Amino acid sequence: MSKAMDDFRLKLGGREYVPIIVGGMGVDISTAELALEAARLGGIGHISDAMVPTVSDRRFNTKFVQEKQKKYKYNIGNTDKSVVKFDLKRLAEAQRLFVSRTMESKKGDGAVFINCMEKLTMNSPRDTLQTRLLAAMDSGIDGITLSAGLHLGSMELMKDHPRIHDVLIGIIVSSARALRPFLKRAAKYKRLPDYITVEGPLAGGHLGFGADDWQEYDLKTIVNDVLVFLKENELNIPVVSAGGVFSGTDAVEFLESGASAVQVATRFTVTHECGLPEKTKHHYLEAVEDDIVVNTISPTGYPMRMLRQSPGIGSGIRPNCEAFGYILDSKGHCQYVDAYNRELEKNPENISVQDKTCLCTQFRKFKIWTCGHNVYRLKDTTHKLEDGKYQLLSAEEVFQDYQFSKDHSIKLPERKISAVSNISLVAA
Ligand SMILES: Cc1cc2nc3c(=O)[nH]c(=O)nc-3n(C[C@H](O)[C@H](O)[C@H](O)COP(=O)(O)O)c2cc1C
Repeated sequence: MSKAMDDFRLKLGGREYVPIIVGGMGVDISTAELALEAARLGGIGHISDAMVPTVSDRRFNTKFVQEKQKKYKYNIGNTDKSVVKFDLKRLAEAQRLFVSRTMESKKGDGAVFINCMEKLTMNSPRDTLQTRLLAAMDSGIDGITLSAGLHLGSMELMKDHPRIHDVLIGIIVSSARALRPFLKRAAKYKRLPDYITVEGPLAGGHLGFGADDWQEYDLKTIVNDVLVFLKENELNIPVVSAGGVFSGTDAVEFLESGASAVQVATRFTVTHECGLPEKTKHHYLEAVEDDIVVNTISPTGYPMRMLRQSPGIGSGIRPNCEAFGYILDSKGHCQYVDAYNRELEKNPENISVQDKTCLCTQFRKFKIWTCGHNVYRLKDTTHKLEDGKYQLLSAEEVFQDYQFSKDHSIKLPERKISAVSNISLVAA
């Protein structure tokens, strides 16, 4: 008898979950609404704390960004951004507001985690990361997924918090090699992770592989390497497979070969609850395989997968580190700022930056359309309506398709009558 994901449970911190984790998608693409749906349905959903002051302004009408921009207004025309710092108290306030409001709305038996990317260096990597981590713990988050970095110092940053043994902590890695130093450090603080997410080369967002060699890796092999490594070291830590898990059956294959859950994201980008603008969701649904590129325009230094039509590619907008500045490293540098300054010197009248993108501004405006490799298959998960548009799904429909589907099938949502046929019904 073939199995469905519902035949399995993920055991974490003494509780059981449907083994579906909706991954963090930065700058409010995996919204609180999406994460809360996953939790309501018994799984785990992620919010992301990427650009949390901006997210808070948009959601709660706060003025964090305006305030920072005002403070550093004098520096806007300056090519050197090193003076631009985050006020840690205000950053903590934004994080607390966002996380506590999310957690207050939680229903059901699932959990809400937060995705914390180390590569958001924010011109003071250690302090800003610590502020984000501690404020999330203060505000009742169920779990923290450490991502986009090796996180060698992160356990130390959290070790004295009263919730250190109660909050669930996991890390995303793309190889057993990257996991080893993290575990060594974690062991030093007697706080091993509660789960390890292994993300393969087909994932969305930033990749832990080279832009030219990602095709040489595959998720099954990497997951297996991590399982073997943990077994050899007598470590019993649940492993989560992520990147390219498109159907419930794909997931079952991982669960049957030793993984404890899967982390998925791309299929949820075309749900009502996802934070992308509706037009962008339709670009995802219409994408064909040729539209997908892995490039190095992210100023973080990591390759990233996106649709080649992303309007942010090639744009030469002025960096707005005075308002944002999330990618500034410990010395106040960002690869986009350097690339922009280079072009400014060459051709001040008509600036176009091809090799890097201003990730903060472009992500805030949803103009870099990052996606998993399987984005071109999204059209197979829904109906094409009479008006030529694809029907968006609900998070519940996608979640339950993963949970209950068998034999590589994908259950299409209940068909909605499109606007065009509504009109013809009225006319008739
Ligand atoms: C639109 C989008 C944005 C993402 N943003 C982030 C992010 O901010 N941080 C992160 O760690 N992973 C990010 N990811 C990766 C997902 O959390 C997830 O692990 C991965 O995409 C799962 O593979 P799938 O998309 O093939 O299901 C993103 C993925 C997508 C599709």
